[in-house]
Amino acid sequence: MNTPLLQAEILRKTYGPLVAVEGISLELHPGDIFGFIGPNGAGKTTTIKMLATLLQPTSGTATIDGIDLIRYPREVRPLIGYMPDAFGVYDDVKVWEYLDFFAAAYRQSRDERTATVDRVLELTDLTEKRDAFVQGLSRGMQQRLCLAKCLVHDPKVLLLDEPASGLDPRARIVIKELITRLGQMGKTIIVSSHILPELSDFCNRIGIMERSHLLISGDVETIIRQLQPTRQLLITPLKGVGASGPLREDLEAMPQVEKATVENGDDGTVRVAFTGGLSEQAALLRTLIERGHALCSFTESAMDLEDVFLRVTTGRVN
Ligand SMILES: Nc1ncnc2c1ncn2[C@@H]1O[C@H](COP(=O)(O)OP(=O)(O)O)[C@@H](O)[C@H]1O
Ligand SMILES: [Mg+2]
Repeated sequence: MNTPLLQAEILRKTYGPLVAVEGISLELHPGDIFGFIGPNGAGKTTTIKMLATLLQPTSGTATIDGIDLIRYPREVRPLIGYMPDAFGVYDDVKVWEYLDFFAAAYRQSRDERTATVDRVLELTDLTEKRDAFVQGLSRGMQQRLCLAKCLVHDPKVLLLDEPASGLDPRARIVIKELITRLGQMGKTIIVSSHILPELSDFCNRIGIMERSHLLISGDVETIIRQLQPTRQLLITPLKGVGASGPLREDLEAMPQVEKATVENGDDGTVRVAFTGGLSEQAALLRTLIERGHALCSFTESAMDLEDVFLRVTTGRVN
């Protein structure tokens, strides 16, 4: 976990007076799935293209597997699979031919190519479509094929620019599952989206970008903790016991409880703003039980990424 597989330091890109990407720094390790979220025009594509060695940064540095990608783009390219935000037009090309073509571009022999095509078709669940024409595939399948193309040379890093855009909910789930599987295989993945819910459930790290700035980035838990310093505990007593009586009073008197409020009436839940950590949380539960409170549930109300996004962004869109 020590040396990052992908590292960017103050990567910046300007077009004349326009700053497309302002000093982005990032560290990712094998298996990390980094959700890169931001509205259109935020600078996601520009960042991804710089990391894919397709765009020269104005300043800053980046390495992949320790190799400087600005100085040695040729050495870095075999380590990267880049999925652009648009799928090209391929008339009269069959699925296997499309993949075989890209495998050939990586100088694989005929036998290697056959094995490669089988492997990536299997991985992206497109084996049945081997002889179909590319243009005849559904959009979801085309996106999977595009991802399959990124995998022909078995790269360590995947840079996926809006892979789920324009897909119906079902196709989106399929692509998410596929990306999750690739993360489990140890690939380091950056996946961008302008729609937060697309990323919130399968990324372990996120970065929120707006107007060329990376406003916040890090592991999901830490970000949530930063934005919400007190834990919100939801404690529900047995029906008929009453949430507003001794239970609430006991809670209010405890040292790490900032506030205890009753929600949904006396048969409802006590919401506790709690400043302690997890072990104090466990101690709190033990104390409540020892004092004879009949509890049905004791949970932490987690702030989800949706809330994080709303707090971090100001709603400005280019
Ligand atoms: N080749 C270019 N020339 C000038 N401006 C560009 C170019 N490419 C992107 N931009 C600008 O850079 C900003 C970031 O764009 P982009 O990286 O495509 O954002 P995103 O992918 O988040 O939608 C936008 O303001 C866009 O208009
Ligand atoms: Mg984009």
